[in-house]
Amino acid sequence: MIEEIERARQEGLACIKSADTIAALEEARLEFLGRKGALTLLLRQLGRLSPEERPAAGQAANAARDEIEAAIVRRKEELAKAGTQGPPLDITLPGTRLPLGSLHPLTKIIAQVCDIFLRMGYQVVTGPEIETEYYNFIALNIPPDHPARDDHASFYIHEGLLLRTETSAVQVRVMEKQPPPVRMVSPGRVYRRDAVDATHCHTFHQIEGLYVDRGVTFAHLKGTLELFAREMFGANVNIRLRPDYFPFTEPSAEVAVSCFGCEQKGCRICRHTGWLELAGCGMVHPKVLENVGYDPEEFTGFAFGMGAERIAMHKFGIPDIRLFYENDLRFLRQFAHV
Ligand code: DAH
Repeated sequence: MIEEIERARQEGLACIKSADTIAALEEARLEFLGRKGALTLLLRQLGRLSPEERPAAGQAANAARDEIEAAIVRRKEELAKAGTQGPPLDITLPGTRLPLGSLHPLTKIIAQVCDIFLRMGYQVVTGPEIETEYYNFIALNIPPDHPARDDHASFYIHEGLLLRTETSAVQVRVMEKQPPPVRMVSPGRVYRRDAVDATHCHTFHQIEGLYVDRGVTFAHLKGTLELFAREMFGANVNIRLRPDYFPFTEPSAEVAVSCFGCEQKGCRICRHTGWLELAGCGMVHPKVLENVGYDPEEFTGFAFGMGAERIAMHKFGIPDIRLFYENDLRFLRQFAHV
C-alpha cells in the first residue's frame, strides 16, 4: 500500500510539473485528486487495512495529498506568470487602428455659415421641426387661402400641426420672446412633399437669418450678404439681387453669387450662366413685425433664407442632392478634411 501511495505521489508530481497550460494542470489534478483520482481511491482504501498498517499508510497518503495540492498551487502561479494562458503578448506590435469619423459635409457647411454670422454679432438659435400652422404660415403673412402654400406641399401631422416647410417660422418665435434689436441665424431641417430627384428631396436643410432694429435698410441687407458670400466662397465673388416674391418680405429678392468655379466663364456647376442661386431675402414685411408686437413705424429689418444643400453642392461641385443622405463612406470620406 505504501508503495502504491509513493508511486501515485511521484506520478502526480511529474504530471503537475509537465503541465504547461492551466487546462492540463486541471486535468492532472482530476487524475490524482479528483473523485476517481488515483490518490483519492487509495485514501478510500485505508479503512480496509489492519490496525497495524493503517497509521503509517494514512500518514503517507495524507502527506502525498498535501504535497500534490501544494505543487498544483505553485505550478498555477508559474503558469500565470509566464502568461501561457493565451498566445504570447508582444507589446511592441502596433495597435488596432480604429477608423476615425468626420463631420458630414452639410454639418460643416452649416457650421461655417453660422460661424460667419456669429462673427458679425448674430446669435444661433433653433426651432421645432414640428410646427404649428400659425408659426409656419399665418404669422408669416401666409393666410390659409394664400397661393404661396401651393409651393410648400406639406406633411401635416393633424389639423393645424405640420412638419415645418421653412426655417422662417423661427423668426417669429424669436421676435415674440424679445424686443429689438434681434440678430439671429437659425439652421435646421425642413420638409416638403416634393418628389425626390437630383436637386430635390422631401427633407433638406435651411439657414434662416434675421436682423431687426431701428434704421435697418436694404443697403444693410446687401452689404451683409455680400460680406457673407465673400467669407464663404472667396474674396473675389460678387452677389446679384433680383426682384422676387415672398409673403413675409417686402420688397423681396433672390440672391445669386458669381460662379467661383469658372470665374463666370460658364461651367457645369453654374449651368453656363455664371451665377449660382444662393438665397431668398427681403425687408421684413410690416405685417410680420405687427404679428410679433413690434411697431413697424419704429423698427425695420431684413431676413434671408438659404439652402444648406445648395451651398454645399455649389461649393464642392456635388451633382446630386441624394448623395448627402445615402451614407456612402466613399462619398463622405472626400469631405473629411474640408
Ligand atoms: N423661406 C423661404 C423659402 O423657403 C426662403 C426665404 C426667403 C427666407 C426670403 C427669408 C426671406 O427669410 O426673407 O423659400
